[in-house]
Amino acid sequence: MAHSDGTFTSDHAVSRAGIADTWAVLRDVMLPTLAKGPLIRRRPVVARAERQRLDDRAVARLQALRDRHGPGPLELRIPFRRQAVILCAEDARRILAAAPEPFAPATREKRAALGHFQPAGVLSSQGHDRVIRRRLNEDVLETGCPVHSMALRFAAMAEEEMAEVARIALDRGVLDWDLFFTGWYRMVRRIVLGDAARDDHAVTDMLERLRRNGNLAFLWPKDRALRRRFLDRLRDYLDRADPHALAGRMAAACTDPAQMPHHQLPQYLFAFDPGGMASFRALAMLAIHPEIEAEARDQIRAAGDDPAARLPLLRAAFLDVLRLWPTTPAILRETTRDVAWGRGELRAGTQVLIFAPLHHRDDRVLEQAHRFDPGLWGQGPDRPDLGLLPFSHGPGICPASRFVPMVAGFALRALLSRMRLDLHPDQRPKRARLPGTLDPYALGFAASPA
Ligand code: HEM
Repeated sequence: MAHSDGTFTSDHAVSRAGIADTWAVLRDVMLPTLAKGPLIRRRPVVARAERQRLDDRAVARLQALRDRHGPGPLELRIPFRRQAVILCAEDARRILAAAPEPFAPATREKRAALGHFQPAGVLSSQGHDRVIRRRLNEDVLETGCPVHSMALRFAAMAEEEMAEVARIALDRGVLDWDLFFTGWYRMVRRIVLGDAARDDHAVTDMLERLRRNGNLAFLWPKDRALRRRFLDRLRDYLDRADPHALAGRMAAACTDPAQMPHHQLPQYLFAFDPGGMASFRALAMLAIHPEIEAEARDQIRAAGDDPAARLPLLRAAFLDVLRLWPTTPAILRETTRDVAWGRGELRAGTQVLIFAPLHHRDDRVLEQAHRFDPGLWGQGPDRPDLGLLPFSHGPGICPASRFVPMVAGFALRALLSRMRLDLHPDQRPKRARLPGTLDPYALGFAASPA
């Protein structure tokens, strides 16, 4: 618990890792996560992570360190950078609840990475700027609402784009990642920027190049000319202000130029990429759990012609896939001052790593850690009581934490209502012990009419 004097009561001591344990965390947890690509995945590395079971190894490493050092924060011995790893769900929840002071989301590393394309995005903002930019994002995405007021429009966009994907898949007899993802991003550009952006591949291609540079954060020079062209293009969309898209909503909701709406929109475009990955993995989970798929199909039938029906099982399936394979595995915070923590202290300027896979796959806490279980998800997009934080938690929680599952539900419904999808036999993971990595780019389905 946090006290008014800024100290945190905890039974958990802060401990210090020696050189061997620090190296083990770097080798097994941090370097593989960076190698996969924090802002855009490097496909060959994701494939290698699956083959070599790197994510399972990362979780096992942190569990072993917790056995040895106890559940409190573990400080690593890294020169020039104070760094701690959080080893239990309770500490993760407390830290995330205490944003942005004293645990700030805008860490140095994040600002360096996001500075390649959205230096004034809320995630890298501090102080008053953070407050007003957060408010703009919450207004546009209607953060607290389970169903967005523009849901009907977005459901229609998902229907149209996924109908096209299904038509081609049925024609070929196969649904693969590239086909799915092309349709997914047509839908995303329409939802975010408007119908005029449906085929504006150039805007997402520019962002892809900037994200690749951003993967290297400080280590790669900023391409300022490309960043200017990209942000100018977003400004054009905001000026056009399509009232049926989020950009139009943002232009109308912006009350202060310091909210920098064109710096908020890149996140809307790039963060739908993991939404696509999780949706495709959800199709794989439904394919190997026919009893859950049958129930989901019943809900789709019961929804009938209501385009914006809630579809709770599809939403829960999507959330459980984000639990099993979190698309933001490293949630980072930085202490803005010295923080007294139980019997120890986290010094000012410490970067704190909450490694979501540890908490989501912690078989010491969660009996169903390695199984697909949509039943874990009730109403909200997080389960801090169990350490399940696919969208983070607290004041810095993803403002789209209800919006994304809603859109994913529309897209999954549109695909499932048209097709039966059978995962290729050599790609069917074991239900009883799902792997730590599931490469979405390699998944392929045999498609037949529903
Ligand atoms: C599967 C899809 C997504 C996941 C798993 C996800 C997850 C997250 C997480 C974990 C954070 C917190 C990061 C941190 O504290 O370091 C975050 C922040 C954020 N997300 Fe998402 N997100 C997704 C999609 C989206 C989409 C589609 C949008 C916009 C349309 C969005 C907008 C934001 C914004 C603006 C922030 C910064 C919030 C702040 O700093 O106050 N996200 N997201």
